[in-house]
Amino acid sequence: MPKTFPHAETFHSRILSWYDENARDLPWRIGPAERARGVRPNPYHVWLSEIMLQQTTIPHATRYFLDFVERWPRVQDLAAAERDDVMAAWAGLGYYSRARNLYACAQLVAEMEGFPETASELIKLPGIGPYTSGAIAAIAFDEPAAAVDGNVERVMSRFLAIEKPIGDAKADIRKCVEGVVPQKRAGDFAQAMMDLGATVCTPRNPSCEACPLQADCRAFKAGRQTDFPVRAKKTPKPTRYGAVSVFVKDGELAIVRRPETGLLAGMMGLPTSDWITLGEDLKTPVLSQGEGAVIGRVEHVFTHFRLWLDVTTDKIDDAKEIIWIPFESWKSAGLPSVFQKAVKLYLKQSG
Ligand code: ADE
Repeated sequence: MPKTFPHAETFHSRILSWYDENARDLPWRIGPAERARGVRPNPYHVWLSEIMLQQTTIPHATRYFLDFVERWPRVQDLAAAERDDVMAAWAGLGYYSRARNLYACAQLVAEMEGFPETASELIKLPGIGPYTSGAIAAIAFDEPAAAVDGNVERVMSRFLAIEKPIGDAKADIRKCVEGVVPQKRAGDFAQAMMDLGATVCTPRNPSCEACPLQADCRAFKAGRQTDFPVRAKKTPKPTRYGAVSVFVKDGELAIVRRPETGLLAGMMGLPTSDWITLGEDLKTPVLSQGEGAVIGRVEHVFTHFRLWLDVTTDKIDDAKEIIWIPFESWKSAGLPSVFQKAVKLYLKQSG
């Protein structure tokens, strides 16, 4: 970690001037000119967008954000919704534990009659960690809190030419950002740092000529922008393997509710076998007996493993508690992407 931070005293003003000209127009955002006129963001919008953006890109999150706020205009409306409706509306955003936390958080906030206004209180709520608490406190309430996401880590790792693998440098980077958050306009500053990372200090081809930090950026000076952030060597993801049934009878599709713990907890799903980890001893999958004929395979990559599911259409496990839904409504059943892939494969095969 470098011992000095170049021109820390002007860091925020350079960032804020850049943001005044270049802020992105986002549906949950109050831009810098409006904020300067005293318009305040809706904390519910800030929170919802931050939770969605924890796991997906702005274009993908935007559609979900607009759907959510149209359907549930206030946090109280979301708290009063049926849990299954919220989970189904979330399907396609991945990481379903986040949807469960979102719903639990909405209920707590509705009871508290509003969001807490400091990072140290926000972090106590479900689904809100160090980054999100800082982001909400800064953006919604202008608390001078640091909001350090992957974009901000990239900006700082380049600005300071941090040679440590980024996983080991997070705490240092956080301290550096805490040291330069302005007392005024903390919300604009947080969003400016994210926008700078997302639009200028991009992972592969950063536009250094447009960067307000260029003059002091150590990576730029060394011509080594894309050497940062330094990545630790990756360990390959293991592959798990199993079978999944797309079982249709009398125009109805068999679905199940997944267990309350584990992957995709509490979500609707298609019936599957247990999943085994493919390893040294089992390189070629062998479908367990009694699973029926296979029409193809779907693959899905989760955070910690890759999953292959062989798709069968003529058998389901009798031991499972089956819920029958009209086949034509499969799209609104809230099936996670991996199961949607299986249904699509079935549709393709059955013409
Ligand atoms: N990424 C996550 N939150 C963001 C925000 N509020 N503005 C821009 N990019 C973001």
